[in-house]
Amino acid sequence: MSQIVLGVSGGIASYKAAELLRLFTEAGHSVRVVPTRSSLHFVGAATWEALSGQPAQTEVFEHVDEVAHVRIGQQADLVLVVPATANLLAKAAAGIADDLLTTTLLTARCPVMFAPAMHTEMWEHEATTDNVRILRERGATVIEPAVGRLTGVDSGKGRLPDPVHLFEAALRLLEPQRAGDMVGMRVVVSAGGTREYLDPVRFLGNKSSGLQGYALAEAAAARGAEVTLVAANVALPDPADVDVVPVVSTQDLREAVLKAAADADAVVMAAAPADFRPAEFVDAKIKKTHDGSAPSILLVENPDILAELVSNRPVAERRPVIVGFAAETGDATGSVIDHARAKLQRKGCDLLVVNDVSAGQVFGSPDNQAVILSSDGSAQEVALGPKIDLAHTIWDVVVQRSDS
Ligand code: CTP
Repeated sequence: MSQIVLGVSGGIASYKAAELLRLFTEAGHSVRVVPTRSSLHFVGAATWEALSGQPAQTEVFEHVDEVAHVRIGQQADLVLVVPATANLLAKAAAGIADDLLTTTLLTARCPVMFAPAMHTEMWEHEATTDNVRILRERGATVIEPAVGRLTGVDSGKGRLPDPVHLFEAALRLLEPQRAGDMVGMRVVVSAGGTREYLDPVRFLGNKSSGLQGYALAEAAAARGAEVTLVAANVALPDPADVDVVPVVSTQDLREAVLKAAADADAVVMAAAPADFRPAEFVDAKIKKTHDGSAPSILLVENPDILAELVSNRPVAERRPVIVGFAAETGDATGSVIDHARAKLQRKGCDLLVVNDVSAGQVFGSPDNQAVILSSDGSAQEVALGPKIDLAHTIWDVVVQRSDS
C-alpha cells in the first residue's frame, strides 16, 4: 500500500479526480486529497473526505500542530496534481508556497506527476510551455493533455486524459524499477483465438478474448520495449506504441510469429491457436442436406508454433526467451501443476504461465491468477488481480532471464 497525495487545482475537470481517487483506494492505496481553495468551487471538501476517508485541507494554518505542510509531502510515495491548472503549474515552477498543496510540492521527495487541463490557448502560451519544461527538467512527470471537447462547445488540446490512463501512468511511477527496463528489447506477443474456416461463413474457433496478450503488449511497450503484437480475431483497441499484426488462422499466426521472432529477445505465446483445421475449405457456403443427414468434417493437425519456436533456436542459445501459456484442469491422473510441468517439458519452452480453469474463470475476465513455471524448476504464484499486473510479473521474470 502506498501513500498518495492527490492535489486538486481549480479546473472544471476536478470532478474526474474523484474517479481517479476511487481507482487508487480500490487498489488498496491510501490517498490524502489536498485541494486548492479555488478547486472547492467545483468539488467540495466533503466529497474528498468521504471518498478518501481522510481530512481534505487547503490551508497551511489549519491544524498547525500537525505541521501538515511538511509531513504530508515527506511521507508521500507519490504526489499527483489532477487537474493541474496553468496557475498551479506556474506556482510549482516558481517554487511559490502559499497553500497546503504548493508547500507539499516543495517538501515532497518522491515522484511528482502533473496532469494539466486547460483551454488550448493557455496550454500553448509560452509561459505555460516554459513552466512545463522547467518542471520536466526537474524530474517531474507532466502528462500531455488529450485532444477533445473542452468546457463548453469548444474543443482542442487541453482536455484531462481519461482517469484510467492517469492511474496507469501513476502506477508506473510507483514502480520506478520497471520504468524503461525493457528499452532496447524487441518482443513478440501473440493474442486472441484463431479461426479455422470451413466455408466462407463458418469457422471453428475458441473463447480467447485476447485481454491477457494485449495487457502483455501494453506493459512491455510502457517499459520501453519494441513490441509486435500478433492478434488473432481480437475486438480490442490497439495498445499505444505497439505494432499490431492481425491474423485469422493458426497458419497465419505461425507465419507472422516466426517472422517477427527472427530478431526478437522474447516471444510470448498468449494466443490460443486451434490445434486442428478442416482438411478442406469449401469455397461456397455448405448447404443443408434436407434428407436428415449431416456432413462429417475431417480435421487435420495444425503446426505447433511454440514447439517450432523452440526447435528453431540453437540448443546453446538463450535468445529469444520463449514463454508459453497453458489453461489446465486437474484430473484423476494429476493436478494442474503436474500437467503443466509435463507440458513445459514437452514443449521445451523457458517459461509456462499456467491458469487453472477448473472453475471456468479467466476467459474474457479482466482478472487473472497464475503460476509461472520456469524450466529451471522454479515456480512463482501470482495472486488473482488485474491482467496488467500478471503481464508485468511475466516481463519481470523474462527481463531477469535475459540479464542473467
Ligand atoms: N500453441 C502453439 N501452437 C499450437 C497450439 C498451442 O504455439 N498449435 C501454444 C499456445 O499459444 C500456448 C501453448 O502452446 O502458449 C500451450 O497451448 P495448449 O493448447 O495448452 O497446448 P497443447 O499442446 O495444445 O496442449 P493440450 O493437449 O493440453 O491442448
